[in-house]
Amino acid sequence: MATMYDASTYGDRIAPVYDALYQSLPSTEAAVRLLAELTQGGPVLELGIGTGRIALPLAETGIAVHGIDASAAMVEMLRGKPGGAQIPVTMGDFADVGVEGHYPLIYVVFNTFFALLTQEEQIRCFAHVAEHLAPGGRFLIEAFVPDLARFDRGQRTSVINLTLDRVQLDVVQVDIAAQRIVTQHVAITESGTRLYPVQLRYAWPSELDLMARLAGLRLQERWGGWQREPFTSASQFHLSVYTPA
Ligand SMILES: C[S@@+](CC[C@H](N)C(=O)[O-])C[C@H]1O[C@@H](n2cnc3c(N)ncnc32)[C@H](O)[C@@H]1O
Repeated sequence: MATMYDASTYGDRIAPVYDALYQSLPSTEAAVRLLAELTQGGPVLELGIGTGRIALPLAETGIAVHGIDASAAMVEMLRGKPGGAQIPVTMGDFADVGVEGHYPLIYVVFNTFFALLTQEEQIRCFAHVAEHLAPGGRFLIEAFVPDLARFDRGQRTSVINLTLDRVQLDVVQVDIAAQRIVTQHVAITESGTRLYPVQLRYAWPSELDLMARLAGLRLQERWGGWQREPFTSASQFHLSVYTPA
């Protein structure tokens, strides 16, 4: 049966395996360190908080972390971890930033900003973030730099893991007109096939900068990684920090 893809689909499908796949990303420790330096005392707000990969270690440093997420299954995983029950999470679409208060730091990491699937939603998110920044506050986005050379006639299939008992593939199509990437993470084992769908609307850093301008923000910093590496033509990722203009 065909189902509609919406804001909760990715999280609800991937929640049971999310931590096994991503909990030990090599960048996590450096990400927490840099975010802690940028908080100006907090509280901070994470858009798409998920299972707390970043939020939990950040909260352990003594900073008050709030989150927004659309997936009950992801937040249930967060709640099941030590400290996870104490983190306030607003359930909803982070395009609307439906929370109270003002934050010295609002952040969205691991390409999650691109989960907003239209330019309109992305612009709306910037505008609502700007309304919730404390004076001199910062909005940090971590995202990939789009690379259309990865695709051959609009598609790409990659082997992520190949063992005696398991085949893990990423099957991807790109719609250049819509700036949209549709992916299935496919896991095949003797007992069956699991599908984990992801849809993203990618944007180049320059488009994000224009969205920021529309929201009354300006680019303060752009790094090529969590160790504040310079952003260059070879960078595959960027950390962009926006602040009120
Ligand atoms: C790739 S995970 C990232 C989780 C966490 N930030 C991390 O870095 O591990 C993306 C998260 O964003 C949530 N999400 C995706 N689109 C959303 C939306 N429009 N509104 C709220 N949450 C959304 C998903 O449910 C998921 O928990």
